[in-house]
Amino acid sequence: MELVAAADSDERGLSLLKVVNVLQKVVVFVHTFTVDKLRSQLTRTASEEMPHMSEDIIEAKVREICQELVLSPEVLKEVCDCLQEEINKGLAKDSHPEATVKCFPTYVRELPNGKEEGRFLALDLGGTNFRVLLIEFSSKCRMDSKIYAVPQPIMVGPGDGLFDHIAECLASFIKERNLGNELLPLGFTFSFPCKQEGLTKARLAQWTKGFKCEGVEGRDVVELLKQAIARRGDVQIKICAVLNDTTGTLMSCAWKNRNCRIGLIVGTGTNACYMEKLEKVELWDEVIDDPPQDGDTHIEVSGVVINTEWGAFGDNGCLDFVRTEYDNNIDSESVNPGKQLYEKMISGMYMGEIARQVLVRLVSEGLLFGGFASDILLEKGSFFTKYISEIESDKSGDFNNCRAILEELGFNDATDADCANVRHVCECVSRRAANLTAAGVSVLLNRIGEESVTVAVDGSVYRFHPHFHNLMVEQISQLVKPGIKFDLMLSEDGSGRGAALVAAVASRCAAMR
Ligand code: GLC
Repeated sequence: MELVAAADSDERGLSLLKVVNVLQKVVVFVHTFTVDKLRSQLTRTASEEMPHMSEDIIEAKVREICQELVLSPEVLKEVCDCLQEEINKGLAKDSHPEATVKCFPTYVRELPNGKEEGRFLALDLGGTNFRVLLIEFSSKCRMDSKIYAVPQPIMVGPGDGLFDHIAECLASFIKERNLGNELLPLGFTFSFPCKQEGLTKARLAQWTKGFKCEGVEGRDVVELLKQAIARRGDVQIKICAVLNDTTGTLMSCAWKNRNCRIGLIVGTGTNACYMEKLEKVELWDEVIDDPPQDGDTHIEVSGVVINTEWGAFGDNGCLDFVRTEYDNNIDSESVNPGKQLYEKMISGMYMGEIARQVLVRLVSEGLLFGGFASDILLEKGSFFTKYISEIESDKSGDFNNCRAILEELGFNDATDADCANVRHVCECVSRRAANLTAAGVSVLLNRIGEESVTVAVDGSVYRFHPHFHNLMVEQISQLVKPGIKFDLMLSEDGSGRGAALVAAVASRCAAMR
């Protein structure tokens, strides 16, 4: 019997292999066919149209094609009005279930006072890497951390696999640093949309940023982490807080800056949190009282940090008037079509691909590289977002980085005019992202309505793009109500230090209650 069963399963295995083989061949064929078809179209366009166009005409046509990425002040004002409306829907009890901008209360009601002390652990999951940190506050903040990769199969595999991986990294960190004998308070930065039900309870609403682990949506991620740790049985931890990276960024900056009220991320994803007055948060289900005061806290009003999850802005179609064919393509090819549409126009996970799509279109119209695309450029994802920062870091009129990148993409004889046009595409894509982010920040500044507010910002796009900060400042100044002063401050390591600070403030408040 067993032999037969084994033979049967071998047989089945073989057939399965054959099917997989055939499928692979079909996929390769379709891919080659599509790329070849595109390539032959590109070649045809080139030989037919290129000779008739001067560089000036090409430049003008490139500008015309890119024009749909340029957002006028009126359009940006409209974006602001829509976001304002969506935030109101997110905060109100009746409209919250259908709202796209969820505005989750975080249960963080206290900002740090700069006097936090002690040693804390922090976990930071939110992108392709996962970090474990040991943080010590005295008058200074000392940090020791280790980065662990989250392999792609884990990002889209079963949920238990992800949490087992996190627990394993944590256990090995604790072992390496000899922390096994201490029960350190831990803050868990989990940078995905979560409905918080307390400072240590957060149900994942939906995955974003390329993650798709089964069995996690709708579950409390703190519980899942605890279970994974229990399955190992070799570490003891005390989870004091779970938070979003925007909250961490706000806390990290507020530690030394008393005006900080907004935390913003423009990295792999984009999102913002802000301090909202409790009476405007219908969703708030706890008593409306003053947070415990020790005379040193920064908050004068009774408020709570709201995680807007603004990446989902536009998921109900309200941003369709600014979206382009490139945005539609990116969305339909993503793992979460129809979701995170504002994020897909702004953040680092998508910006490079938007630029690539524009470049391919320009080649197909015979406006770039003599109408010939390289195989690499035709490959989805080949134009990294960091290329945009590098290309725009070239001094004006100089194309060193641009040429090196084009060579990597298989273009060895790009002309100066090609480089200038590639740069123009990058500028349009990054400017649009900066302007859209600025629109979001202006809405929050206008809501808060305080005279002077610091916005804590983190994320690779903001950090590494040479002009993102200035572009944002310029645009916010146009959109913010007269009389409101603001500054954008790079927040050092919000996801790590911020997590420890939320844990520290939580311990302090618990001690005072
Ligand atoms: C995505 C997540 C959000 C996070 C942001 C920045 O938008 O949904 O929770 O804050 O990325 O990492």
